[in-house]
Amino acid sequence: MSLRLERLVYESTATGTTTSIGNLAVILAESQRNNDRDGLTGALAAHRDRYIQVIEGPAQTLDALLRRLENDPRHRDIVLMGREPITARLFGRWTMASARITPAHGAALDSLIDHDDLTPARVIRILLDALDVVRVN
Ligand SMILES: Cc1cc2nc3c(=O)[nH]c(=O)nc-3n(C[C@H](O)[C@H](O)[C@H](O)COP(=O)(O)O)c2cc1C
Repeated sequence: MSLRLERLVYESTATGTTTSIGNLAVILAESQRNNDRDGLTGALAAHRDRYIQVIEGPAQTLDALLRRLENDPRHRDIVLMGREPITARLFGRWTMASARITPAHGAALDSLIDHDDLTPARVIRILLDALDVVRVN
């Protein structure tokens, strides 16, 4: 199996509520278990009725996950914002990090959405900033 690494960013529309910690926690737990097995890393955010996710890993493994995501009734209308080869992971420490969208992050996302300016690079910057982890330095 090819180990060519790629990173993809997508957004989707949640069919249930994204504000329920329960929904998100279940998705995160499943994702972390599977991604640990599959060598995938990334971050997931919920904003309004959307999920925004960055996933990195071997290309074929990403393909397999995309097929599962397409069939997951918890969201619909998946829009792939970008997918590209990478030489290094940005989210290598997280099998699937939870990105906590603060009001400031939300406003930044809304402004990008309003101006049709939601590029993968901008999404990644916001998600990295919003990672719900304790920083030690
Ligand atoms: C917004 C969202 C993000 C998800 N992210 C992942 C993920 O990163 N990795 C993963 O394996 N499954 C993820 N899932 C779940 C998959 O769609 C699918 O249900 C799961 O991979 C199937 O796992 P199973 O074969 O163990 O039942 C996500 C689902 C949703 C709704």
